Amino acid sequence: MTQALRIGIAGLGTVGASLARILTEKAEMLTTSCGRPITIAGVTARDRNRDRGVDLSGVEWHADALSLASNAELDVFVELMGGAGDPAYSAVKAALARGIHVVTANKALLAAHGIELATIAEKTGALLNYEAAVAGGIPVIKALRESMTGNTISRVYGIMNGTCNYILTRMEREGLTFEACLKEAQRLGYAEADPAFDIEGNDTAHKLSILTSLAFGTAIAADDIYLEGITNISIEDIRAAADLGYRIKLLGVAQKTDSGIEQRVHPTMVPVDSVIAQVDGVTNAVAIESDILGELLMVGPGAGGNATASAVLGDIADIAKSRPGAQNVPAFGRPVEALIPYQRAQIQNHEGGYFIRLTVVDRAGVFASIATRMAEQKISLESIVQRSKQHTEGVEPQTIILVTHATSENAVRAAVEKIKAEGYLVGEPQVIRIERPKAA
Ligand code: HSE
Repeated sequence: MTQALRIGIAGLGTVGASLARILTEKAEMLTTSCGRPITIAGVTARDRNRDRGVDLSGVEWHADALSLASNAELDVFVELMGGAGDPAYSAVKAALARGIHVVTANKALLAAHGIELATIAEKTGALLNYEAAVAGGIPVIKALRESMTGNTISRVYGIMNGTCNYILTRMEREGLTFEACLKEAQRLGYAEADPAFDIEGNDTAHKLSILTSLAFGTAIAADDIYLEGITNISIEDIRAAADLGYRIKLLGVAQKTDSGIEQRVHPTMVPVDSVIAQVDGVTNAVAIESDILGELLMVGPGAGGNATASAVLGDIADIAKSRPGAQNVPAFGRPVEALIPYQRAQIQNHEGGYFIRLTVVDRAGVFASIATRMAEQKISLESIVQRSKQHTEGVEPQTIILVTHATSENAVRAAVEKIKAEGYLVGEPQVIRIERPKAA
């Protein structure tokens, strides 16, 4: 029989344990499919004694990831520890430097060091595969890196954080508090070790930076992303959005504009009848718009042990099936030296629709003043509604919601500043961008 593919797994948390279980339970099927067995040649994890539902007693344990990557007899180093720095960074570098293929789910690592790692991989002829790093089980890396070669891409966007989508969905459906939904997402193993990465949008930003590079052939620019998380989204916003025909999703969007490429992560209104609006719970979705293919929309499980392990396994199987001496796929779709510098389009120049929720004191002329301030900035309104609570003039604050037609971020910011200066606002205005799928 052909020689087995020897893998080393660093990290046996939710994903690593799922992977080890699947490799054991499906050994026969994998051998048939890959034409050779896949064996676990070494592992490392923080806690050796934890019950992971799989027998790893015969597997060589290493004290740490660097030792596994540097010393073990491996064909593939599977990094499932997470984190942009060490131990993951040094261990992955060490493996690639030895010419050992790397499979990783580590979006933070790729966002910070992806180009450096791809450069080492190119030099040594190793593969750097990372399907699980973006949108869990959805094969979006393969789609961009391989299947869509030759397409000119204009926009890629999606729901790429299962935790946030889970929270927003449960808040909308069940009226639960943000905190309760986050706790449940943590319990189910969706959230990052530090859930601030999920809810503040950093996790989506890491993933978006990878997709931007693949879609537009640019160097990764994870620090050049406009970022807003979901902590500011209230149940009032979710209800108002529903009343006006929208749902709120945390989207990552990368879009080509005349002044460069926009990379932005923020809560977004999407039309309720669009497919992406129906993507609920931990499910992720990624849409890619291009000239040859048109719009490709992929929907699937975005977080959790099995979904992520499925993508990791696919990457391992690709290596197991590859022919010796075959040309390797470049990590970011083209050789590193062919990647162009990223040119940032400023968020102030963003063009699109906006949802604006204002809480105002209840007095005559406020509605007219708001409409005037919008008109001064040449902002055309799709709708403007007042949510009247009990009306005893001057007593109960009122809510006014505006939805604009396409306009510029600059104009919206200027109008909102003018409105704030009028003195009738109660609290801060809420401004949420609207994103429309191509067909909507
Ligand atoms: N914390 C991430 C999420 C895990 O919720 O989507 C998958 O990357």
